[in-house]
Amino acid sequence: MQTQNSPLPLSQCDSLLRLRRQVDDRLAMRLPLPESERDKISLALREGTLAPGKRLRPLLLLLALADLGIDPDTGLDPACALEMIHAASLFLDDMPCMDNASLRRGQPTIHLRFGEDVAVLASVALLSHAYGITATAPRLTPRQRNDAVAILARSVGAQGLVRGQFRDLHGADEAHPLDAVIATNQLKTGSLFTAALELAALLAGAERALSSHLQGFANELGMAFQLLDDIADGLTPEQTGKDCQQDRAKPTVVSLLGQQEAHQQLAMHREAALSHLQTAGLGDGELAGLLRQLFG
Ligand code: IPE
Ligand code: IPE
Ligand code: MG
Ligand code: MG
Ligand code: MG
Repeated sequence: MQTQNSPLPLSQCDSLLRLRRQVDDRLAMRLPLPESERDKISLALREGTLAPGKRLRPLLLLLALADLGIDPDTGLDPACALEMIHAASLFLDDMPCMDNASLRRGQPTIHLRFGEDVAVLASVALLSHAYGITATAPRLTPRQRNDAVAILARSVGAQGLVRGQFRDLHGADEAHPLDAVIATNQLKTGSLFTAALELAALLAGAERALSSHLQGFANELGMAFQLLDDIADGLTPEQTGKDCQQDRAKPTVVSLLGQQEAHQQLAMHREAALSHLQTAGLGDGELAGLLRQLFG
């Protein structure tokens, strides 16, 4: 399959680290600045979002753009929006009414540092800000801005990440527990991964077949990534920067199938993700490189 533009040889002129730094600089610029020490909401949302995370969702969008022959700078604001939404989901995910976590990105969780009220309000503010910067992103056409906001809203809402998080806490309707866990993972984690690739397809004007392989890639990557996270739940907080044994009481692919089968499932999703890229003619591109970095 041919992409419409020639891929930009990003790895030669621009390392992953440099791209990450660009995301961090842009995030620092786009997040609201606290007016004073009393402005706890702005302090919390800046600190939580800028804390050292992998920045995987923005990188996915920017690397996909490079693969599709579009200057990654074009997507910087939507990429920041993805990271803001992700950070907001982490603030909420860590709260006592959800996973009740105490450590995130190597630091005490937002509700422990700033209070539960601030964690909820900062999360709402981050989500609003994410839609706002997408609606005014400088290098997008009015139509692209509109569609990009719709993509983000859909991925977060009651049929997306929020639905996945609710199912994660309360269980789901599927008769088979493994089917339920897989569908939950697709919603709670896959939603933002697929949004990143949908945004890339939108900004590159990708044709339907190419877009569908990018979606397939994102979906498989999301599944592999949540599996990796579930496996890492057995590591130490020093290794992950998060609480460990968080999933003790909940069904995960690891608890249902065991470590060995979980690793096999992970390898399967990794291969399926790569296969989508190869069919799309992107088997040697930046996304494929990221896949190798994440899963070997
Ligand atoms: C954590 O995401 C939540 C999951 C979907 C597993 P990340 O592992 O991407 O967290 P950060 O952004 O690197 O902190
Ligand atoms: C969370 O999954 C997915 C989100 C949408 C935040 P987890 O609850 O397993 O993520 P961690 O392990 O706390 O990062
Ligand atoms: Mg959770
Ligand atoms: Mg959690
Ligand atoms: Mg986890």
